[in-house]
Amino acid sequence: AADELVFYVNGNKIVEKNADPEVMLLSYLRKKLRLTGTKYGCGGGGCGSCTVMVSTMHPISKKIQHYPVTACLLPICSLNNMAVTTTEGIGNSARLHPVQERIAKAHGSQCGFCTPGMVMSMYALLRNYPEPTTSQIMDALSGNICRCTGYRPILDGCKTFSK
Ligand code: FES
Repeated sequence: AADELVFYVNGNKIVEKNADPEVMLLSYLRKKLRLTGTKYGCGGGGCGSCTVMVSTMHPISKKIQHYPVTACLLPICSLNNMAVTTTEGIGNSARLHPVQERIAKAHGSQCGFCTPGMVMSMYALLRNYPEPTTSQIMDALSGNICRCTGYRPILDGCKTFSK
């Protein structure tokens, strides 16, 4: 129906009737769906802690495309027919995804606040480039701010995916 917004979060179908155009994906994830792994840092697109992956079908090539996005700036109404993946969608403390595991093993997570965003930026990169170069990794993480690690351990963990 025309008044219905349909999208997917971690594989679950979401149907919103008369969705509020002012609601951003970040608050929807955290408050409505109680998916609090995605963090609220700056609220203005500047820190990357709210990064999630959005997947959508290219209208012409019909290929699925994956993008990292800052959920604090993304109105849910722009997500019709798209799929959102959050850090909870790729792994959890019982069973970590390799991105989560390798960043943690390299001591790339200290206070941990930036980690889900880092993980999702890296995860989206790997979906597009399974063996990324160092400069691709640095580009992919360039929007994610960390105040503890000095970045090197995060990069070290991520570089284990390179050839
Ligand atoms: Fe900082 Fe979204 S909360 S970029």
